Formats: sequence, structure tokens, C-alpha cells
Amino acid sequence: MIVPVKKNDELESKIEEAIKNPRNLGEMKDADAIGTVGSADCGDMLRMWIKFKEENGRKVIDRATFQSFGCQTAIAVASVATEMLRGKTADEAKSMSGEELAAPLGPLPPVKIHCAQLVEGALRSALGAETTAPRSTSPTLIEQLSGNGKQKVRVVIDK
Ligand code: FES
Repeated sequence: MIVPVKKNDELESKIEEAIKNPRNLGEMKDADAIGTVGSADCGDMLRMWIKFKEENGRKVIDRATFQSFGCQTAIAVASVATEMLRGKTADEAKSMSGEELAAPLGPLPPVKIHCAQLVEGALRSALGAETTAPRSTSPTLIEQLSGNGKQKVRVVIDK
């Protein structure tokens, strides 16, 4: 039996809006931290740049930007997430799940959860933490880049 998937118009319009006007898109030349993560399953990839500043004796995120070679949901999540990261310490940012990073868009359907986890993975990669995203059987791009995969991969980022 085939069960029809219910369309979530509100989610789709929020994603569409974020795609039309993505926030914090692009490379950051003076970034303090850069994280890249990719999914070997869907082939999508996301890179995040982070700049810190001192505020009231705390080191907090001043700006976060991203580039994505991936789906619209990942771009939309990265757009809203980079807005939310401003003012957070590295520990506060690291404690955020993909679900929390995507919260302004509303709940994601199960097939799109890994898109938010891609953003979470890039953030954790930038902040030097291991991702909590469920592991698939194939190595992620970050595993390949770090040498945990058997094969070395050269990634060329084209603007
Ligand atoms: Fe792979 Fe969205 S389909 S990140």
C-alpha cells in the first residue's frame, strides 16, 4: 500500500523564502574557524566559516557564514542557523542539535533531517567537535578528508 506524503506548505514556503534571500551566504576571508562536511550518501556538502569576538569577557560568535553544494533544505537551515549562532559561545553553539538549528523553519520531515545534520556537522567540524549525526555505512566527506576513509579526496571549492 502506498501512503501519500502530506505536503507541509508552511515548511515549503519558509524554505523557499530562505532560498530566495539566504542570510550569511559566502566565504569569510578572516574567519577564525572553518568546518566542512559532506554526505557520501546524497553527495551534498556544506562549509561554514566562523568569526569570534570578545563580548563582556566572553568569546562569542560574531559572524557565521556558509557555502553549500546541496539541497535547498540544507541551504535554508544554514541560513537560519548562521543567524542564530551570533552571540553564542563555542560551547553553546556545539550543544545545538540539527533540530535546534532548523527550529525557525519548523519541524522537518524525516527525509530532511539529515539536511539539518549536515549543517550541525559543519558547525561541529568548525568548532572541533565530533558530529552526533547518525553514521551511515559509507564514510562522510569529512572522514575521507581527515584520512579515516581509505581514499584521499581533493576538494576544490569554486565560487
Ligand atoms: Fe542531502 Fe539535503 S538531500 S543534505
